[in-house]
Amino acid sequence: MKPVEIAKGVYDVGVIDWNIRDFHGYSTHLGTSYNAFLIVDEKTVLIDTVKKDFADQMLRNISQIIDPAQIDMVISNHTEMDHSGSLPYIMSRVGADKPLCCSKMGEKNLSRHFSEKFNYQAVSEGDEISLGSRTLTFIETRMLHWPDSMFTYLKEDKILFSSDAFGQHYAGHEEFDDAVGEAIMPHAKKYFANILLLYAPLILKLVDKVTKLGLEFSMICPDHGVLWKNPGKIIEAYAKWSQQEAEQKAVIIYDTMWSSTHKMAMAIADGLHAEGIDVHPMKLRGFDRSDIMTEVLDAKAVIIGSPTLNNGIFPSVADFLTYMKGLKPQNKIGAAFGSYGWSGESVKILEKELSDMKFQMMESGLKHQYVPDETALEKCTAFGKKIGQAIKEKA
Ligand code: FEO
Repeated sequence: MKPVEIAKGVYDVGVIDWNIRDFHGYSTHLGTSYNAFLIVDEKTVLIDTVKKDFADQMLRNISQIIDPAQIDMVISNHTEMDHSGSLPYIMSRVGADKPLCCSKMGEKNLSRHFSEKFNYQAVSEGDEISLGSRTLTFIETRMLHWPDSMFTYLKEDKILFSSDAFGQHYAGHEEFDDAVGEAIMPHAKKYFANILLLYAPLILKLVDKVTKLGLEFSMICPDHGVLWKNPGKIIEAYAKWSQQEAEQKAVIIYDTMWSSTHKMAMAIADGLHAEGIDVHPMKLRGFDRSDIMTEVLDAKAVIIGSPTLNNGIFPSVADFLTYMKGLKPQNKIGAAFGSYGWSGESVKILEKELSDMKFQMMESGLKHQYVPDETALEKCTAFGKKIGQAIKEKA
């Protein structure tokens, strides 16, 4: 139940969205939360808001602590509507003339989303705002993951309000990571793989910058999911994921019309397994693309299969390739396979797509006309073994 006092005078006044299952195309099997934070000092500050539909619920949470009209300033770390959608309503209750603090780019972006003339106060990296006994400062995190993104840091308490970074789409009554335990990490990994992966080089720079600044964190508070009482754990995971360190693992992502490509996928999986590789066959239309992408994150090899359909590839495979391309996974071995009836273009198309993503390709993909017999399946298993050996050599 919110609000929760997470440190002395610091409250989580956000809301839990138990029912959302599709967050702009990302499958949120357990729902999510929109976290927002209230700091009560000589000045009272609200950091971020929630989705528009939850504005009243958040106001009720705030009202259990103070009258919303007593808030002196609102901070927007990031413009995306799950955190700023209720700003017009909240500002009308807080006081329309109260300062709305954001990055310079935040001011531009917010003013393109809302017609209201808010009292914007743009801040830059290192600016400080005194709340009385405590101080807020700001860290610019452009393109993590919007151009306007920034972090807010409560210096004396060493609490980082990290906007989307370090978040997880997880709905639960647990407030902190230790209440969920290791089970929270797959949610954090999925969030990274689907929201932040393409910005991995920027994350490494940010980790470097924060290290040089000598900032310490007692707690990291993202805008989704649980808060990190053990910041070292999630920072370490982000460093690993950003470096795109892979396991001895392969993902076989495919679709099938009459099961021929499926049979090929299973035989390729046998070959990989025989080489001791952790192999995940994932049929599109059986797995959500965001769950598949989570497995791609730490896989050494990505093997794509598609039948030929109308001289092209299967629509579900094209969908996934478009999605994966945008997220820019790196350091992968790529391979393609598929069955066909007469023209057989799919493997060539898949190989081009994977080459364009700079995957290190197996020299030739595997295609088979109509239904694979035992001999063809043995070839598939040998193909899987060859990929498995390449994975081990690369490790
Ligand atoms: Fe949770 Fe980028 O919004």
